[in-house]
This record gives sequence, structure tokens and C-alpha cells, in this order.
Amino acid sequence: MATKAKPKSTTGIDGRPQWSGQVGFIISAIGSAVGLGNIWRFPGVAYENGGGAFLIPYLVALLTAGIPILFLDYAIGHRFRGSAPLALRRVKRWLETLGWFQVTICVVIAIYYAAILAWAISYFVFSFNQKWGDDTGGFMYGSYLHLADTPGFSFDFVAGVLIPLALVWIAVIVVMALGVAKGVEKANIVFMPTLAIAFLILVIRSVFLPGAKDGLNAFFTPDFSKLGDPDVWIAAYGQIFFSLSIAFGIMITYSSYRKHRANQTTPGLVVGFANSSFELLAGIGVFSIVGFMAHEQNVAVADLSGLKGVSLAFVTFPKVISQMPGSALFGALFFGSLFAAGFTSLTSILQVIMAGIQDKFKVSERNSALMVGVPLAVVSLLFFGTTTGLYVLDVMDNWANNIGIIISAIIMTICVLWVAGKYKELAFHLSSLSTFKVKWTWLVLVGIFSPLLLIYMFGQVMYNLIKSGYDPSSYTRAFEFKAGWLVFILMVAASIVMTFVRWKEDPDKFEAWPGFTGKEF
Ligand code: ALA
Repeated sequence: MATKAKPKSTTGIDGRPQWSGQVGFIISAIGSAVGLGNIWRFPGVAYENGGGAFLIPYLVALLTAGIPILFLDYAIGHRFRGSAPLALRRVKRWLETLGWFQVTICVVIAIYYAAILAWAISYFVFSFNQKWGDDTGGFMYGSYLHLADTPGFSFDFVAGVLIPLALVWIAVIVVMALGVAKGVEKANIVFMPTLAIAFLILVIRSVFLPGAKDGLNAFFTPDFSKLGDPDVWIAAYGQIFFSLSIAFGIMITYSSYRKHRANQTTPGLVVGFANSSFELLAGIGVFSIVGFMAHEQNVAVADLSGLKGVSLAFVTFPKVISQMPGSALFGALFFGSLFAAGFTSLTSILQVIMAGIQDKFKVSERNSALMVGVPLAVVSLLFFGTTTGLYVLDVMDNWANNIGIIISAIIMTICVLWVAGKYKELAFHLSSLSTFKVKWTWLVLVGIFSPLLLIYMFGQVMYNLIKSGYDPSSYTRAFEFKAGWLVFILMVAASIVMTFVRWKEDPDKFEAWPGFTGKEF
């Protein structure tokens, strides 16, 4: 008689949600890593910072800080089985504040990340008839965003942005409310393979476009003189942190949902290399298309402008798409991929916030999705559904990434490993559960090399910000203060306040994996 397969449990020990298994975790972790950072940030950053030569600091950053800190995040989340505030509190009581600080980084990123997804949805629709016309810059900043002439905070709402933004929030709240296994993991299982296929078609098609070779040459030709420039190294490390989703709570949270006997390091290597492969693929696709554009305009790639960030994806790309054979399909593939990649990252960013709330107040996944999602949606609509959204987004993005994530990484590496003295316990936890054992090199990289380098980077970033501001040609100091420093001060204040809020259940009553002595592995 056929027996019914036992349904996989979606909750584990302590009633904590859990992934359906290792594959679900790996796909979701890749889904978190592969995001807007890969498609719209990496190609522009690489091009600006030495093209092919950038790949050297990029790979060094991946191997010396990216993967080692990814392992550290995994070890903290899995060993101490909690959201960032809970797991870090279990490392050392006062580190709970760092956990909440990571949550606040995710709050800031989530509210603007959703806005870029909203633009991607709009552009997906516009692709079918190339609604952007010939003047793609005028269309993006004028007809679509209705961008105000001067940076500031306005409450002039733009319906064309507000509506897709509201839709993004509704969709993401529904997915989050379904929970880790039934919502987040399922969304990743649908979106990630779709993304891989769509993006591959896009890249293969683009490398055969006329002029693609020149674009690829521009991208890969190394400008070695750039290697002596500290800013290039800072850009490489910054890119790796954002792109791998490390040091701001995501991977701590994700690994807290793993089962008892979980291999830690091998999935970490898979995630790290999958993310970078996707990033390189994006670089190849984007620069083939840029080469095609230069070819069409009969200019050299170096003479083109608008090859970074917002303008690369939403001004330069639409222009090229219009000139290509099969424009509608090409546009839909590009903006559809941007949306799919970003959506799975947004779920991971929100999961950090929700997990913190679930642990502290013992609320269900569904209730926490509403408690977190609805207020964030309102703030996101207020800031980014208006004529000044782009300005606020640009400044907030800089502060959240270049200040927030770097500070968080410095404090986490130094305090967890040395001040709290967890280096042996975590190295042991990683090795005893994994096929790839970490040795003293891991400790040197994550505990000495990375913090020293990050402190140096942080010093440079602060020096430049204080001396010349973030972007003096675009923003006043007063605006940068409000959208940058003030937001940062609020993040720190909120983290301190949250630390003093009472836990619904004693967070310290905890045994690191019952029965786990390390010997059984
Ligand atoms: N890792 C995510 C990205 O690259 C946040 O966009």
C-alpha cells in the first residue's frame, strides 16, 4: 500500500521557522545575494574603477573578506539560533544593540530598494511599446519620476511611481506573511531559475550584437594604474558586502532557520561563487549592450556617458533596447530580470526586520509581516513615491552602505571574535559541521585583516564625507545632513531603544544545539 509522504516540517526546534532543507536554503541565500547590486551596481562600479583591473581588488575582496565574513554570519546565526538581535545578544548581552543596528540598516535599504523594484515593474510594462521614446533621460527624470529641480523632501506624489510601489509592497507582504518555507523559499524557487534562464538568454543575445566586442574590451581591459588608488579598493569591498548580503543581518537570520546538522562552509562557497558568477555575467551582458550602443552612435565606448547606477539601467538601457532587433522581448527580459533578482533580495532584507520582531515580541510570521510591512510601506511611499524620491534614495543608499554596513562589519568582527572571545567556539562550530574545515587562515582574515582594512576604509570614507560632502555638485550640506547623517543618528537611537524593550520570553534561556558536543560530527 502506498504510504503518504510525511510533509516537511516548516518549523524546527523552539518553534523557529526552518527551510525545507539544504537546497531551499542555498537557493534562498543565492536569491538574497543576487539582486540589484549585481545587475545595476556592479557593471557601473567595475567600469568606473579600472574595468578589467577592478576584477583584481574584487576577487581579493571576495576571498579575504566576503567569504570569511559570510562564514562568520552563518556561524553566529546557526550556533546562536536567532535573528540578528537575538543571536548577537546570545554572543554577549550588549551586542543586542548591534543586532538592532543591523535591523535598522535593513529598514533603510528596504524602503528605497522597493522603489527601484517599482521602477523596474513600470519599465517592464513600458518595454512592450518603448514608451520612453527617443529622449530616455527626459522620459525617466521628467515624464516618469517628475523629478523636482532641487533636492529636498516634497510630498508631491507621482501616481506613476506610487501605484507600482504600492503593488511591490502588497506582493512582498503577502510572500512574507506566508512564512520562511512557504513564502520566502517558494518565491526563490520560482524566481531564481526563471531569472537564470531569462538572464542567460539576454547575455547570449547581447554578446552577438554588433559592437559587443568593443564593449567587452572596455569592460575587461585592465587599467592597472587604478590599483594604486585606495578608492578602487574601497569600491571593491563595498560592492562585495552589499552584493553578498553580509554584515547586515541577512545571513545571520537565514542561517538561524537551518536544521541542526547543517554543513556550513560548502553552501557558503556555493553562494559566494554563484553570486560573483552572476555578477560577472551581468557585466558581460551590460557591456556587450553598451558596445552595441557605441557602435550605433559611431563613438568610442569611453566617450559614452550614463554608464552607472540609475542612468545605466533606466536611461542608457532603454535607449539601446529601442535600437535593438526584438526590442520588446529584450526590454521585458532585462527589466523582468531586474525585478526578479531584486524581489528575492527584498524578501531577505525584510526577513531580518521581521525575525527581530518575531523573536522579541513572540508574534507569528503573519502578524510580523503586517507589523513590519505596513508601516514600512507607508514610509516608503511617502519618501519615494514623490518628486524628490530619487535624491533621497541616492543619499540614503550611500549612508546605509558606506557607513552603516562598514561600521556594522567592524564592530561585529572585533566584538564577536575578540571582545566576546568566541573565535574558538565559532571556528569549531563551522568546522565540525562542514566538509570544508576553516583553519587559522579564516580567523586571521575575518578577525585581523578584515577589521583593520575596514577601519582604514571607514576612515577614508568619513574623511571625504566631512571634507567635501557626498556629492557637492548635486546636494547641499543641509540636505545631506537630513537624508544621511540624521537618518544614521535615528538608526543608532532606535537600536538603543529597542535593546531596552523587554523580551516577551527570556532570550538567554538557550542551549547551543541540544546534545551537540561537537564530537558526533
Ligand atoms: N545582495 C543584494 C543585492 O545585491 C542586497 O542587491
